[in-house]
Amino acid sequence: MGGKLGTIWARAGHEVVFSYARSEQKLKKLAREAQGSARAGTPSEAAREADALLLAVRWSRVDDVLKQAGDVSGKVIVSCSLPMNADDSGLVIAHTSSGAEALAKKVPKARVVSAFNTVPSEVLFGVFAARRKASRASLVYCGDDASSKETAATLIKDVGFEPVDAGPLRIARYTEPFALLVAELAYESDGGPELAYRFERFGN
Ligand SMILES: NC(=O)c1ccc[n+]([C@@H]2O[C@H](COP(=O)([O-])OP(=O)(O)OC[C@H]3O[C@@H](n4cnc5c(N)ncnc54)[C@H](OP(=O)(O)O)[C@@H]3O)[C@@H](O)[C@H]2O)c1
Repeated sequence: MGGKLGTIWARAGHEVVFSYARSEQKLKKLAREAQGSARAGTPSEAAREADALLLAVRWSRVDDVLKQAGDVSGKVIVSCSLPMNADDSGLVIAHTSSGAEALAKKVPKARVVSAFNTVPSEVLFGVFAARRKASRASLVYCGDDASSKETAATLIKDVGFEPVDAGPLRIARYTEPFALLVAELAYESDGGPELAYRFERFGN
């Protein structure tokens, strides 16, 4: 998710720092191939001057990457991370809380927005390629802070989605299980993983 979204944002004109992988070579290659203003760096270098951080790691890595990022007070953290168990078969947090809320508790001084976890990574380049078409795929996002949600909405639009504001961060209790539905359709049905969704309103 991070490699693809970072590449798309670099191509859309943002300055991107790719960080957090076991191989620095991988991060440098991503930066080279992004064809924009992109570089590789450590999580703390990425966090230092960023207007927004994308948290795109497996749930078991969240504490480690936050530790490496250092002080994230005041930072917008857009998280696509889902609180999955070790074999990716289910959510370890649900119903009465969500991964996004658990994350916000870990970094109370940051401003967490949950976004991008309801689509498979395989569809991102296709959505970006279709960004100028009249009808765009939807993408739900939620968070408690208005200005960080504006930042997230801009990043969502830059990928080519129509942002759908689902409300406060606690709505991640619904969007995270919905992400598992989309993953089920993407990976377990015949149509293939390049799947996005679109909400339409009728009656007005
Ligand atoms: N993939 C999807 O389609 C999708 C869709 C919706 C939501 N999500 C959620 O988004 C999050 C990210 O998913 P992903 O598929 O992008 O995960 P991923 O491919 O496992 O990538 C996560 C990043 O973490 C790095 N990493 C893993 N272990 C590490 C370690 N011990 N030390 C340093 N870096 C390490 C990986 O680098 P390495 O190259 O070293 O592995 C990679 O750069 C997850 O929470 C997932 O549930 C994913």
